[in-house]
Amino acid sequence: MDVRVAVVGYGMGKYHCSDISKTTGLQLYAVCDIDPVRRKAAQDDWGVKTFASYEEVLSDKKVDMVVLATPHDTHAPMAIAALEAGKHVVTEKVMCLSVAEADAMIAAAKKAGKMLSVFQNRRWDSDYVTVKYVVEQGMLGEVFQVASCVDGYGQPGGWRAHKKHGGGMLYDWGAHLTDQMVQLAKSDPDTVFAQIEHRVWNVDVDTFAKVMVRFKNGMVGEIEVGCISWIPRPRWHVRGEKGALLLEGWDDQFRLRTEVNGIKTEMRFDKLASSWQEYYRNISAVLNEGAELAVKPEEVRKAIQIIEAAFRSAETGKAVKV
Ligand SMILES: NC(=O)c1ccc[n+]([C@@H]2O[C@H](COP(=O)([O-])OP(=O)(O)OC[C@H]3O[C@@H](n4cnc5c(N)ncnc54)[C@H](O)[C@@H]3O)[C@@H](O)[C@H]2O)c1
Repeated sequence: MDVRVAVVGYGMGKYHCSDISKTTGLQLYAVCDIDPVRRKAAQDDWGVKTFASYEEVLSDKKVDMVVLATPHDTHAPMAIAALEAGKHVVTEKVMCLSVAEADAMIAAAKKAGKMLSVFQNRRWDSDYVTVKYVVEQGMLGEVFQVASCVDGYGQPGGWRAHKKHGGGMLYDWGAHLTDQMVQLAKSDPDTVFAQIEHRVWNVDVDTFAKVMVRFKNGMVGEIEVGCISWIPRPRWHVRGEKGALLLEGWDDQFRLRTEVNGIKTEMRFDKLASSWQEYYRNISAVLNEGAELAVKPEEVRKAIQIIEAAFRSAETGKAVKV
């Protein structure tokens, strides 16, 4: 029988409904939102059962899995409650706000014998997939530095502008960029140094963060996220011993410089094709066929370690050992 899924939170939740409804082995069973307007929209869009409270979702025995597409501060408590109620859990990024929360979530999943995963959909972004391919093919020689940036200019709004809800750029875009960096490094974070600014907009969250992370294997990642940057830095800049790779913003084409048979050369090439749909294909395969989970919470925990250490580093002005 298909895995019956309840999506909680109908903002980004709408995207989840769409992907889940297209995935063999998963059934979009219900949507929950505390906002009646959003509930009505979900009902109109999908014709599914709607719930006004999370407690109702958890007490419905037909719900096999919940997807949490709610503000960041709710992910850990809601995930733990669902696991204790015997449901599988997919939570949106950011997985949670601290390493202690990540550990509690992982322990709750182990205790319940249920699946816990995080929607790190940007592991299937075509720009990231291309960077990973180029690095893994050895096209740059040994890679020692990866810079990854998503910044722009605009005032944060809604819950994203409030610290108590886990707002700010580092928990938001930073959740994607730190996770991608961990996957590229294939190593554990060792030391973190960060600059975090609260400038321009009158909000109590970070509006810019630059995080430098040294991994145990020696690779250094530089992550920048912000909403106060008038001119963004390149999306990717990767340095290896035998070449460098660049992607400006969300351009279609990468630029790569290297040496071939003694000739210094430059090439431009398109991003590889990739689709976020792969995430839910994997979730279905895990739950229906016992496949290996693509986004394991223990791996995402490493990104949370980096984010937590970055906040500590910015506070103290010192590099922090993870
Ligand atoms: N992975 C991605 O590409 C991506 C993109 C956008 C947003 N997100 C993530 O999705 C999550 C939600 O962001 P959003 O932009 O959709 O925010 P949003 O504010 O648009 O939607 C959140 C919804 O959750 C509902 N909600 C809040 N508390 C609830 C509760 N206790 N029970 C039921 N419903 C509740 C709100 O009423 C709202 O409709 C965040 O974790 C965000 O980081 C991820």
